Amino acid sequence: MPDKQPEIIVVPDFSLLIETAAKRFAARVSKAGPRRAICLTGGSTPKPLYQRLATEPYRSELPWSSIHWFWGDDRFVPLGDERSNAAMARAAFLDHLPIPPANVHAIPTNAANPHKAARLYEAELKDFYRGSLLNAQCPLFDLVLMGLGSDGHTASLFPGQPALDEKERWVVGVEHAGFAPFVPRVSLTFPSLASTREMIFLVSGLEKRNAVDRALSGQDIPAARAHALGTLVWLMDRDAAPEVYPVSSGESSRAV
Ligand code: 6PG
Repeated sequence: MPDKQPEIIVVPDFSLLIETAAKRFAARVSKAGPRRAICLTGGSTPKPLYQRLATEPYRSELPWSSIHWFWGDDRFVPLGDERSNAAMARAAFLDHLPIPPANVHAIPTNAANPHKAARLYEAELKDFYRGSLLNAQCPLFDLVLMGLGSDGHTASLFPGQPALDEKERWVVGVEHAGFAPFVPRVSLTFPSLASTREMIFLVSGLEKRNAVDRALSGQDIPAARAHALGTLVWLMDRDAAPEVYPVSSGESSRAV
């Protein structure tokens, strides 16, 4: 279990959650070097954030051509399938911005099976990283966005599954999803997700509050195992945040 305390940011409502996430995203990207790498999450929560990034001022301000895009997980479905995390992000913003196609690194869900897809994606990550061993001094990503399921899963790392304990592989195939949509998955593991300057959990809604509380109070649920070489942030709206965390007055409040 990670020992670093996360930054807790609570905002009053969903629209402020998206605005805060967009500002934080832009700040991180502007700090990053010439070869930026962002790892996107799937699900429904981040879609308005992705759509917001395709609008002003971000549309004009961000260095789109120097950012590489990856996914923390995807459903093992055809690229055009409505359940595809890559399809969602492409439709929400990636396909509407000046991003070189070679910079969009979707998980190859057209591979023979999820395990083959995982091997191929791990090779693509290592090729981008220019190395096959993660170096704590040299994070793979500048920013990793994470979601949270009401069961405590994150990415496609589900309660009770062996992938939670994976220490060597960067990417694994997940035959049986522990949460809807119940299709096979491909997921990065905690070691590769952790290789980032910043990790932001983007969480909204009352249905997530119990899982947030369990994660932040040290219970061993998948999301609690997520950690980052750099900054770990839990960015939540009022509904998702346990009562103990007040709405942040402009800066983050550390976990108590
Ligand atoms: C996925 C996601 C998953 C998601 C959570 C929350 O592929 O489904 O990576 O981890 O972030 O299930 O999803 P919602 O944002 O839709 O609640």
